[in-house]
Amino acid sequence: MTTTLERAEAAEHAMSQELDQLVIMKSVIYVSGEHDPRLPLPRPPDQGKRYLMGHDPRLPRMPEKPTLFDFFKYRFGPANHLLQSARLAQKSGAGEKLVMACLVHDIGIAGFIRGDHGYWAAQLVEPYVDEEVSWAIRYHQALRFYADESVGYRYPELYTKLFGDDYTPEPYIERDYQDALNHKWYMTARLLTVNDLYAFDPNVKVELEELTDIVGRNFKQPKEGLGFDASPTAHMWRTINFPTRYL
Ligand SMILES: [Fe+2]
Ligand SMILES: [Fe+2]
Repeated sequence: MTTTLERAEAAEHAMSQELDQLVIMKSVIYVSGEHDPRLPLPRPPDQGKRYLMGHDPRLPRMPEKPTLFDFFKYRFGPANHLLQSARLAQKSGAGEKLVMACLVHDIGIAGFIRGDHGYWAAQLVEPYVDEEVSWAIRYHQALRFYADESVGYRYPELYTKLFGDDYTPEPYIERDYQDALNHKWYMTARLLTVNDLYAFDPNVKVELEELTDIVGRNFKQPKEGLGFDASPTAHMWRTINFPTRYL
């Protein structure tokens, strides 16, 4: 009979064997900066080995038909910020659309690309949510930088700390802020910024499952699984599932 430790060692051995047989190339965007993107990426020695075209053995394997929650569990970092923001919105009596928006507003940061994260998150969920939800997520990126005293929203102190006193948002952010101000859904995006918590309460533990019903009603889960339907953003979900495929 094998012990748990032996089984774990065997699994680890199998994984390192599998890795030895594979060539894993990183996308330019992963290394750009550390590596000059004008130069070719150095190739690892590939004699007799295959290039990875499927699951990366270093990652937890996702179910065949992954759901939004599977991405939270297997591909997004700790989601306390998202869960607590959704909970706060819920407690303030917000409608389900706003709670849904809060839950996914930073999935760009949690599992995809940081820069312009609000735009990425909005695009990822766009085919599966009400237009107002993705709109609010897209515009939280810009609205985070501008106060609105009418709802008690101030410029985040954290931003002064992170970016300095003299940081001014770029013109496209200013433009999107101005556009948002005159939009019928302005307040949805604004309330997203109000519920966008920076101070985490370590005592508040929100489980993903507490939001099952809201997600069920507000996120149109494709029956093929996220990434395998024919939506305009399915490929983005596939890339999160399989981030290191050669092609
Ligand atoms: Fe954000
Ligand atoms: Fe956030």
